[in-house]
Amino acid sequence: MIPHLTALFALSATALAEEQVVWSAVTYTYHGEKTPDLFAGPYDLTPVGATQLYEVGQLYRERYITGAANSSLTNASPIYGLNTYAIDNSQLQIMATDDPWISASAMAFMQALYPPQNATVPNLESMLANSSLAEYPLNGYQYPNIETLSLLDFNHVWIAGDDDCNNYDVVNVEYLASAAFVQEMQSTNEFYESLGDSVFWAIPEDDLNYANAWTLWEFAAFEYQHNETLNQSGTFTAAELDTLYNLASQQQWNFNTPDSSGIIQAMAGRTYASYVLQQFEHQVASNGSAEKLTLLFGSFEPMLAFFALSDLSTGPSASRFNSLPLHGSTMTFELYSYAEIPLSVSETVPFPSDTSELWVRFFFRNGTGDSNDLIEYPIFGRDNSQDDMSWSDFVVGMSEFSLDDLVDWCSECNSGSLFCEAIMLNYNSETGSGSSTTTTKKSVSTPVAGVIGAAATIATTLIVAAILALVGFRIDYRPRQKGGVSDLGVLKRSASGGGFKGAEKLASDTDLTMKGGAGASVVRHERVGSWELNDNPDTKQSALDKAFESGGEMSKTDYGRRSEDVHGLGGVDPYGEPVKALDQV
Ligand SMILES: *[C@@H]1O[C@H](CO)[C@@H](O)[C@H](O)[C@H]1NC(C)=O
Ligand SMILES: *[C@@H]1O[C@H](CO)[C@@H](O)[C@H](O)[C@H]1NC(C)=O
Ligand SMILES: *[C@@H]1O[C@H](CO)[C@@H](O)[C@H](O)[C@H]1NC(C)=O
Ligand SMILES: *[C@@H]1O[C@H](CO)[C@@H](O)[C@H](O)[C@H]1NC(C)=O
Ligand SMILES: *[C@@H]1O[C@H](CO)[C@@H](O)[C@H](O)[C@H]1NC(C)=O
Ligand SMILES: *[C@@H]1O[C@H](CO)[C@@H](O)[C@H](O)[C@H]1NC(C)=O
Ligand SMILES: *[C@@H]1O[C@H](CO)[C@@H](O)[C@H](O)[C@H]1NC(C)=O
Repeated sequence: MIPHLTALFALSATALAEEQVVWSAVTYTYHGEKTPDLFAGPYDLTPVGATQLYEVGQLYRERYITGAANSSLTNASPIYGLNTYAIDNSQLQIMATDDPWISASAMAFMQALYPPQNATVPNLESMLANSSLAEYPLNGYQYPNIETLSLLDFNHVWIAGDDDCNNYDVVNVEYLASAAFVQEMQSTNEFYESLGDSVFWAIPEDDLNYANAWTLWEFAAFEYQHNETLNQSGTFTAAELDTLYNLASQQQWNFNTPDSSGIIQAMAGRTYASYVLQQFEHQVASNGSAEKLTLLFGSFEPMLAFFALSDLSTGPSASRFNSLPLHGSTMTFELYSYAEIPLSVSETVPFPSDTSELWVRFFFRNGTGDSNDLIEYPIFGRDNSQDDMSWSDFVVGMSEFSLDDLVDWCSECNSGSLFCEAIMLNYNSETGSGSSTTTTKKSVSTPVAGVIGAAATIATTLIVAAILALVGFRIDYRPRQKGGVSDLGVLKRSASGGGFKGAEKLASDTDLTMKGGAGASVVRHERVGSWELNDNPDTKQSALDKAFESGGEMSKTDYGRRSEDVHGLGGVDPYGEPVKALDQV
């Protein structure tokens, strides 16, 4: 049989070649284009977005899996021992948040990484007793094991460390009240309002301001890509789109990177770094057998935070790393060594016994498209000639800012997450800190602790609201009538769509209205509920929802075929009518 043949071949051909062996890779990919937050929803990955992620999957398939057999591929860097055709889920760790556009991004990517295996392989699984072979549906579709993580799962923090991180929200809400922010709003107001007649024709004028920079940019980019009338009219130019992009970048940079007050805003980059370290450490501890390929999917926040923390934003390519990545952008770390590769596949390459033989490198690819390559960049302030790092340099560099422990995430974030309650309880009882409260806390059962967590979240939010009230902001807390979701439902929400994420964990279905000192307002559309904004929240109802409703081009009837609906303005709002403001501040 085949193994014997190769063994014979190995005996005759004992020549060895010194080559790079990639042992493991950890990638993080930004989801593809989705339905803009400013649409009525539902929010999904668009066909364009799915194609973007499919293409990234193809790129990685060539790089890590099939590339070895194709000498015309210079970008190939096959991972040693990774299956070529049949997916082996034990070799992969795939994690996405449970936002539909992010989990769908993971699926689109995987469809290309391990495409349908339509040549049926005769094995025990496929053979039938009547001597025919069974094939998986859809011409041999392969089923990846994608973990889609909700906020209830602590693994969620590795891909979206900013979600549910209260202190991140607090610092950013404070930033919205800062003089610098208000000034930026004032200086850009004219620009935003000038677009009110072209691309932002459907958006109330009040919402056209820098506080909504990311949301507006997402909307404009979508319209630019999809609206032929707009393209033909020539009223909205690529230069204007560029300006919107730059403003959105600047805003999100301020939200997600360290500033003079600390590094809490870069939490998503710290948790991501921590996970990369963990995966490589497992790989090393298992002598190269565990965690061969880790595929993470999420939003852009971890990327921005990581650009800043890793000194990409100040290094040799600084000018490229201070703005929003494009959809489908991906970054990857590779762990590799140099080894004498036996020319026969039947002989194994031993994993280096000494970590001093291990190397790590970092790549980034901006968006998708043929001209975009995975490019290696030096991190940690190294220069272009030092983009390959030794294992120990890598560990030291990452440890500078990576999070050591979930306990640190819980305490630095002051998060009310269900799992934090459990972790902190355990931690406090182990370390004996706060001994008098520990004994009482210990008797609290987990579901009750969860409710306490949610209550603590609300308390923090109210404190933020009080601060804002002092500086001239105003938050209205308006519970929604529909749904009737319990307190614990709060924890299920995920918000990796980007944009401003303030004190959104008040209750599962709430609208918040925030009015800024500069006479502007902040929009945030969530998967459930929304940030609405009005000049006068007591009398003026959700201006945006009204705009959708008055679009009048579509029937209000929902025929139940959402996936094929045009998610245009004027579509059906699945969350029903907004309710009247209930002022609680
Ligand atoms: C090698 O890669 C190139 C570029 O992707 C592709 O066009 C070609 O078909 C590949 N050849 C083989 C034998 O896979
Ligand atoms: C597998 O699918 C490819 C592409 O759809 C097709 O070209 C090929 O003939 C198929 N092979 C078998 C054995 O069905
Ligand atoms: C063998 O059995 C399977 C299912 O039991 C059936 O679908 C298939 O048609 C059979 N093949 C033959 C050649 O009878
Ligand atoms: C707009 O139309 C022009 C001409 O038809 C085309 O070249 C351009 O690519 C279009 N823009 C977009 C974003 O599709
Ligand atoms: C495209 O944009 C124009 C304004 O430029 C607007 O009137 C039209 O309704 C938009 N089309 C769609 C399908 O949204
Ligand atoms: C890894 O290999 C070393 C020797 O090189 C051995 O001592 C150790 O037990 C191995 N660890 C595992 C998890 O296989
Ligand atoms: C990604 O593309 C955007 C838009 O072209 C650009 O501003 C940014 O600098 C690019 N980033 C990198 C890392 O190439």
